[in-house]
Amino acid sequence: LADSRVFSGIQPTGVPHLGNYLGALENWVSFQHQYPLVLYSIVDLHSITQPQDPEQLRANILDMAASLLACGIDPEKAILFQQSQVSEHAELSWILGCLTSMPRLRHLPQWKMKSKQKSEGSVGLYTYPVLQAADILLYKSTHVPVGEDQVQHLELAQDLARIFNHRFGDLFPEPRTLLSSTRKVKSLRDPSSKMSKSDPHNMATISVTDSPENIALKIRRSVTDFTSEVTFDPDTRPGVSNLVTIHAAMARISVEEAVSQAKGMDTGAYKSLVTEAVIQRLTPIREEIERLRADRTYLESVLLQGTQKARELAAPVLKEARHRVGF
Ligand code: ADP
Ligand code: NA
Repeated sequence: LADSRVFSGIQPTGVPHLGNYLGALENWVSFQHQYPLVLYSIVDLHSITQPQDPEQLRANILDMAASLLACGIDPEKAILFQQSQVSEHAELSWILGCLTSMPRLRHLPQWKMKSKQKSEGSVGLYTYPVLQAADILLYKSTHVPVGEDQVQHLELAQDLARIFNHRFGDLFPEPRTLLSSTRKVKSLRDPSSKMSKSDPHNMATISVTDSPENIALKIRRSVTDFTSEVTFDPDTRPGVSNLVTIHAAMARISVEEAVSQAKGMDTGAYKSLVTEAVIQRLTPIREEIERLRADRTYLESVLLQGTQKARELAAPVLKEARHRVGF
């Protein structure tokens, strides 16, 4: 573990939702204590693969910084920085892109999912996984926490490390996937799909800054089924099981314990119990985000310091990569 380096990134989508928190950020917080060097990047270069309003993007970057800090990312333990401020990412991405073929990228999930929503996707969206590989390799990262949907992108990063090393001599360790969590939080309105920022249904997603009243309303309106008893069976009872997942995660208890606490309750009463657990965990986070949002100078200084630390690590690696390539 002494030489381990953890890298992960999150797009500046504004304030995270419960799925982001339980599926990614909660784990990010614990990695800070487990690994000697941890980098978390707000990946704004990735976010412009889809159209962004500049003012909104700027606000979303600061909101994401405030949210990460409020969720427990400690800038003394993790390097928290804004991707676009470390220009080495874009430059290494170019080098790696020249080692990748077009067919290698065609079947990767980001392109497949997002390009068909529009008639044409951007070149940036197509090469998104190459930039992701650059993000990782630039810090000689050894461990990369990702969701299941990103595993194929990690494989590209591993391939590119191998291809570069084979062509130009060993430089990059092959990064290992840390499946951050198998916990999937589902949409409250359509439990067959995951909770997502882009969920088309109203009231399907709980943001970490939702008010207690809003949380209560969303959970009360969440889709369950016609059986009133609470059981955990994601295949046949996805709605109720999603509530059990959320309850267990928020109360930091096992699924079995959550189900046993629900004994004798119908799903209506259980929703109140789940609501309490969610409110209890999210209230301090929401209050901290509100406090940090009012302190823009502090947020900017955290990002600036993180950026400086990231650059110090990135610069010599890119310099060596450039040299190997022949620049
Ligand atoms: P979204 O789908 O809302 O745009 P992202 O794809 O940007 O979220 O995901 C950011 C991180 O949060 C990733 O690590 C991803 O695996 C995790 N994540 C997103 N949605 C969920 C969910 N519903 N359940 C668990 N983890 C999730
Ligand atoms: Na997404």
